[in-house]
Amino acid sequence: MLRLYPAGWMIPRTAVGDDVLGGVRIKAGGTVLVSPYVTQRMSTFWTDPTLFDPERFAPELPRRRYRYSYFPFGGGPHQCLGQYLFLLEAQLIVSTVLSRYRFRLREPVDLTPRLGASLQPKQRAELIITPVERPVGP
Ligand code: HEM
Repeated sequence: MLRLYPAGWMIPRTAVGDDVLGGVRIKAGGTVLVSPYVTQRMSTFWTDPTLFDPERFAPELPRRRYRYSYFPFGGGPHQCLGQYLFLLEAQLIVSTVLSRYRFRLREPVDLTPRLGASLQPKQRAELIITPVERPVGP
């Protein structure tokens, strides 16, 4: 999910010196916006880029060739302080919650991403949460 919908979809960086990137002149002190939302969907780096396929990240697969093809927590010396905590706690939360509840949308909504300070769906999504029925018995 963090590949297709990175909450921090836009990460600002300040240029320390004059430079030219892709033919665009950057002045020292200028702000450059880098976006995981863009690179994590580029067909240059990903086959079937819009397909949700967590198996792409299976540990037995070779490491990604391009370091910055995936950077939902930022990159370089300045990065998200909570990334390792999040990666651990997200697995525990998602697996615990999904083992006990099922989720469905209350009504159809437009889930097209809205580019705010963080990435959100265009429309508010209300969910119905139903407990998973557990078999009774010994
Ligand atoms: C889906 C989960 C999360 C995502 C996608 C995310 C993403 C990011 C991104 C993109 C940045 C900016 C990094 C940069 O400028 O290069 C950031 C900064 C930060 N994040 Fe996260 N984050 C997540 C969860 C967390 C959690 C769980 C914590 C704390 C427990 C946390 C704490 C921080 C802090 C403190 C910073 C600022 C670091 C600084 O300015 O030095 N984040 N995060």
